[in-house]
Amino acid sequence: MLLYNGSILVCSYYTVGQYGSLVHPPNMISCDMVFSYNALYAYGQSKLANALHASELTRRLQAEGVNITANSLHPGVIKTNLARHGGFFSIFVNTVHSFLKNVPQGAATTCYVALHPQVKGVSGQYFADSNLSKASGYARDPELAKKLWDFSVKLTESK
Ligand SMILES: NC(=O)c1ccc[n+]([C@@H]2O[C@H](COP(=O)([O-])OP(=O)(O)OC[C@H]3O[C@@H](n4cnc5c(N)ncnc54)[C@H](OP(=O)(O)O)[C@@H]3O)[C@@H](O)[C@H]2O)c1
Repeated sequence: MLLYNGSILVCSYYTVGQYGSLVHPPNMISCDMVFSYNALYAYGQSKLANALHASELTRRLQAEGVNITANSLHPGVIKTNLARHGGFFSIFVNTVHSFLKNVPQGAATTCYVALHPQVKGVSGQYFADSNLSKASGYARDPELAKKLWDFSVKLTESK
């Protein structure tokens, strides 16, 4: 999400947080693995990629002296339609439905990082529950972030 004040926000997930590596094999991200699709695994990879992207983007913006921030965040587990195609995951979400955040609660951390004066100028960080938080080791790995960036450029470059 690119904001009017020149900040970039990416929505991440709990698996990117310090306790989360449930769906991450040891060598995340596997840039060379394009077979044997597994939805949960792919979801975890996509969220980790979001956090790594914000981190590498921060490094590049700062290297060029650009005054734009990029952060990632975990909004919480929110009652949305996300799990509607999720099989077992969908059953699980319906079971714990009443313990989940509603949409305004789920938007709170995003709004905090986007707008709160405390976060002005902060970049390359990970937030949860409207606070600075610590991302997993994978999400804080600068070499992995660069590897993912280079891999993405290679995938999308014009032939
Ligand atoms: N819910 C959570 O607990 C949670 C936690 C952390 C992160 N997130 C992340 O937050 C993001 C939004 O999730 P959500 O919970 O709001 O899910 P959601 O209720 O399923 O909403 C997803 C939205 O994306 C739209 N969409 C899906 N595929 C699209 C496409 N190819 N092109 C354009 N629009 C598309 C859908 O449009 P239609 O309604 O028209 O299909 C829908 O409005 C996801 O990236 C999710 O991983 C969610």
